[in-house]
Amino acid sequence: MSTNPNKLTTSWGAPVGDNQNSMTAGARGPTLIQDVHLLEKLAHFNRERVPERVVHAKGAGAHGYFEVTNDLSGYTKAAFLSEVGKRTPMFIRFSTVAGELGSADTVRDPRGFAVKFYTEEGNYDLVGNNTPVFFIRDAIKFPDFIHTQKRHPQTHLKNPNAVWDFWSLSPESLHQVTILMSDRGIPATLRHMHGFGSHTFKWVSDRGEGVWVKYHFKTEQGVKNLDVDLAAKLAGENPDYHTEDLFNAIANGDFPAWKLHVQIMPLEDADTYRFDPFDVTKVWSQKDYPLIEVGRMVLDRNPENYFAEVEQATFSPGSFVPGIEASPDKMLQGRLFAYSDAHRYRVGANHNALPINRPKAEANNYQRDGQMRPDTNGGGSVYYEPNSYGGPAQSPEHKPAAYAVSGQADSVAYDHHDHYTQAGDLYRLLSEDERERLVRTIVGAMMPVEKDEIKLRQIGHFYKADPDYGQRVAAGLGLSVPQGD
Ligand code: HEM
Repeated sequence: MSTNPNKLTTSWGAPVGDNQNSMTAGARGPTLIQDVHLLEKLAHFNRERVPERVVHAKGAGAHGYFEVTNDLSGYTKAAFLSEVGKRTPMFIRFSTVAGELGSADTVRDPRGFAVKFYTEEGNYDLVGNNTPVFFIRDAIKFPDFIHTQKRHPQTHLKNPNAVWDFWSLSPESLHQVTILMSDRGIPATLRHMHGFGSHTFKWVSDRGEGVWVKYHFKTEQGVKNLDVDLAAKLAGENPDYHTEDLFNAIANGDFPAWKLHVQIMPLEDADTYRFDPFDVTKVWSQKDYPLIEVGRMVLDRNPENYFAEVEQATFSPGSFVPGIEASPDKMLQGRLFAYSDAHRYRVGANHNALPINRPKAEANNYQRDGQMRPDTNGGGSVYYEPNSYGGPAQSPEHKPAAYAVSGQADSVAYDHHDHYTQAGDLYRLLSEDERERLVRTIVGAMMPVEKDEIKLRQIGHFYKADPDYGQRVAAGLGLSVPQGD
């Protein structure tokens, strides 16, 4: 059937007679309900929004490819990493965390760094941030943490009191708070920042042997950050500054690229390492586990349509492919549930059938029906298992590697309570200028906190990381470091 793209039609494909004047009873009379084109147009408009992401609502995306530059197939059987030179198409979505869909890009916030690799064995999503650690280390604290980053239920304002109350009562946040308040808290552009998987993951080889890994994407553009005054000005003048920069860079053929590295830890080291390597508030020393190059990611194509691709993209830390598995990280374990659940609510049960999320490898299973099923829904093929009709069957060689666990079912904290050494090491690495800016930023952020009790508790944490750190924040706030803490 031939179609004429210049002919305006309704959503059911019928030609529209008039798209400028609604049908009225007489030239000056009321509008007629029989103008079904008008009804459809207004009704569809009312349904243009899907719920924004509960976190990471504001984002920018791009397509590209990942190319293997180093053969690590001895560590993982992941097919897309199997040989040097192999290319896999990918899509990335960068985001801020706390702001709403229309919020400013140049705010102080971690940046999301969510990558979808369309591999021949299904989609692999690496849903990370531009920081190697996180504020908390148990998923059970996430909703409370995010409440403090969002708006006050009465005033609908951001609430520094809640932010610092929560952080000061959750000292595991200190490392990430120090990164966030440092120059890296406001990247110059989305191109000038590193990306991290943050959690520990497991790689499994075709011999069934595992290792723990951490991912690091290193920007080839170099790390650059924004001066706070410029960032504030841009937030007012061009709230979409980062989104625009990414789009224009790619449109102009200036394709941003990142080198992907991993740190690899033998499985047994997890039992004896000086802290729990599954604790996402800690980085592994690169002296102990050096960076090993894996490949290169290049972003070379802008989305054709923001909503279809960027807004409807659904990334899940649980979208693994054979050769890559979860670790017992208590945050990661919670995320394995949270994302797909969010996608079913935000986009729908068939979100993985949408073009941006659909695997390049065919999805064959017994899931049927559900709202907005955009494909052939399995046609007349067998729709249950087990069956005698040659329907898709499991492949036991792709079972995740067996993993020994022991102990009692209980709600237990990580047993390592040194929240201070790594935050202090970071502080000590900074130049005097960087420390000065860090302290100024923290003092500015803490000044509006109502209760001195909260400020003093937090100063105690900075002090434990490094006495100079604590003393300078205390001085900036006109307080003294609490004694005996
Ligand atoms: C988005 C939950 C921790 C990175 C989201 C979304 C949820 C969520 C519900 C929205 C998903 C959607 O609507 O599509 C959680 C929970 C966490 C957690 C429960 C802790 C238990 C983290 C951590 C990182 C992270 C540790 C990074 C290391 C992201 C990113 C996105 C996101 C990058 C945006 C994905 C996109 O671009 O669509 N998170 N999150 N989250 N989260 Fe988390």
